[in-house]
Amino acid sequence: MLLAGEDPIAVERAAQVLAEGGLVGLPTETVYGLGARADRDEAVAAIFTLKGRPSDHPLIVHLAEPGDAAGFAADWPPVAQRLAEAFWPGPLTLIVPRRPERAAAAAAGQGSIGLRCPAHPVARALLRAARERGVPGVAAPSANRFGRISPTRAEHVVEEFGDTLLVLDGGACPVGIESAIVDCTRGHPVLLRPGQLGRERLEAAAGEALREPDDEAPRASGTLEAHYAPRARLRLMPAPMLNTALQVLGPGEVKLALYSRTVRLPPGSRLRHKPMPLQADAAAHDLFADLREIDALGVDLIWVEEPPPDPAWDGVRDRLRRAAAAS
Ligand code: TXA
Ligand code: MG
Repeated sequence: MLLAGEDPIAVERAAQVLAEGGLVGLPTETVYGLGARADRDEAVAAIFTLKGRPSDHPLIVHLAEPGDAAGFAADWPPVAQRLAEAFWPGPLTLIVPRRPERAAAAAAGQGSIGLRCPAHPVARALLRAARERGVPGVAAPSANRFGRISPTRAEHVVEEFGDTLLVLDGGACPVGIESAIVDCTRGHPVLLRPGQLGRERLEAAAGEALREPDDEAPRASGTLEAHYAPRARLRLMPAPMLNTALQVLGPGEVKLALYSRTVRLPPGSRLRHKPMPLQADAAAHDLFADLREIDALGVDLIWVEEPPPDPAWDGVRDRLRRAAAAS
């Protein structure tokens, strides 16, 4: 059931559902989340069931205010403080040591917890209203079935889970790709997933280099190779290779769509073409909705032009590589 996120009565209703241990679809600035109160393990278990997500994959806990982190974090390393000051509320998740008695199911039993204070006004209104009802934080993965494309519009959430779920409609998510994740539990910060915030901006605020995840990095489905997959197979190619591939393609060989910034279809081609926005932020904003739209054409294959090497494209490049790896 879709309710208008700007309607205070709808927000109160959603907060009540959360307080009672139910699930709610909520908009954030990154993607839509599937939320449950983080302090109730049965409520959180329902998320794993509905998503089809393995129960050993931890969820992010969303907070009304940065200060609410203290309720979940056993320790707050200085680098977490610097990053939170720079980017909260906003599209950044910080992994910190967890208070042992808190949010065990949300953390999937890990000794750490992922925390994020989102900036979306509807998310903030909901988190505040839930907190007034005694909810200290809302555990929420992206509101898609496990391994599929994250939802960036309320209708996508309904497509994933049907009409019985209460979904607050906050319009199209302004950022469009999931939050950046920095692990602050290991003595040195580790970039688990880039988002709109890429390595450069995060390092500038952290005041130190972010390491790459190694084998000891915690398990994170958003960091699995194969993720964010459309139904069609997706292949990423640099522009010159893509141009050549299009030239040698026989007519009607495969049901193929092109998703590209600079590469155009050869004259007379009857393939489907979806232009990718030229700017990184716009490309992130449109990425998942575009992939859903292309998938809905019923093509077997999506050929995608590799984004530029510029750091501004880190997040989009990361999601496309994972989608290609899943194919
Ligand atoms: O932008 C986002 O982050 C969205 C919105 C809804 O906030 N959420 C999201 O959640 O993308 P999800 O569950 O799809 O991806 C969160 C990632 C997963 O890869 C999860 O494994 C990782 O964060 N994660 C959460 N808690 C963790 C922890 N304690 N240690 C390591 N990784 C963690
Ligand atoms: Mg996800």
